[in-house]
Amino acid sequence: MTDSVRVTLEGNDDATSVTVYGDEGDVSTDDATFRFSVGDGAETVSGDAAPADETESGAPRHIAPLADVPTDGTLRCEARSGDRGTELILRREGEAVSAWRNSCPHEPEVRLDPGPGAIVRDDRLVCHEHGARFECGDGVCTAGPCRGDALESIAVAVRDGAVYLTDDRFDSCRRLDEATA
Ligand code: FES
Repeated sequence: MTDSVRVTLEGNDDATSVTVYGDEGDVSTDDATFRFSVGDGAETVSGDAAPADETESGAPRHIAPLADVPTDGTLRCEARSGDRGTELILRREGEAVSAWRNSCPHEPEVRLDPGPGAIVRDDRLVCHEHGARFECGDGVCTAGPCRGDALESIAVAVRDGAVYLTDDRFDSCRRLDEATA
């Protein structure tokens, strides 16, 4: 091979490119590593996506880049289990992210985040309906009509600058801000 080859691999939230001067190489993103070889004018590409971001059924569990999760509000998403959807909200504190069901314990039909993000004041989530305040770590209500109750936590994890759903009750998750954009 006399010329270089430029290979780009697009993942869920980034793209990685490499320039190859030899006859073979590999390129990786968060999601996959592809190895390829070049010979006799024919380029071949093969590879396997890493299974870590998927459930056994193949549904994606990646939620969002860490940078998209706000500290002064929440990111609203929908986790799915079969045909059932559950709204959840994510909030970031530094490099950590917490997630809870988007429902106030005082009146469960009331969403803490009705769309533009939940209210965050003095590092606590505030229900817009009657002012209940929830600690951002454990979700316990420390003031308001449901004092002592707690938001329902949903398990998520941060890995390589992205947030993933790790709660086994759900198969997949999607952002609702992108769905309605
Ligand atoms: S519905 Fe949230 S405090 Fe009443």
